[in-house]
Amino acid sequence: MTRERIPIGADHAGFELKETLKAALGALGYDVEDVGTHTAASTDYADYAHPVAREVETGQAQRGVLICGTGLGMSYAANRHPHVRAAVAWSQEIAALARLHNNANILVLPARFVTAEQGVDILKTWLDTPFEGGRHERRIEKIEREEEQ
Ligand code: RB5
Repeated sequence: MTRERIPIGADHAGFELKETLKAALGALGYDVEDVGTHTAASTDYADYAHPVAREVETGQAQRGVLICGTGLGMSYAANRHPHVRAAVAWSQEIAALARLHNNANILVLPARFVTAEQGVDILKTWLDTPFEGGRHERRIEKIEREEEQ
């Protein structure tokens, strides 16, 4: 069976948590593609959000993970890409709902507001929770049909 490849990116604020999540993803059997950053030196979140979001937009990857201080900058940049639904999750409950109701295909973690342990738990919940479909399918479709509303 082919291992799912998951692209992951972070700025300096998310660098340390990215390293932890990379190890967790590897241990869970995923292939991790680290788009950076590779040090704790100050850098710009959009430089990592766009490469990960582009992979999900084009279908090269089914899912991706992004990390910055609040999660906000990464989500703003990633959500500019068609077909991307990047959800900031700071608890397992939010992560589960982001999958069940919103079919989030990018998980964004706010590194300054979760511990490493919470980050791993949130990641696992997001990876393992399916999309509920049904009425949520229609709602998601409307996100990309804004001009028809
Ligand atoms: C970096 O200091 C911080 O602004 C960034 O990680 C993120 O929180 C932006 O949304």
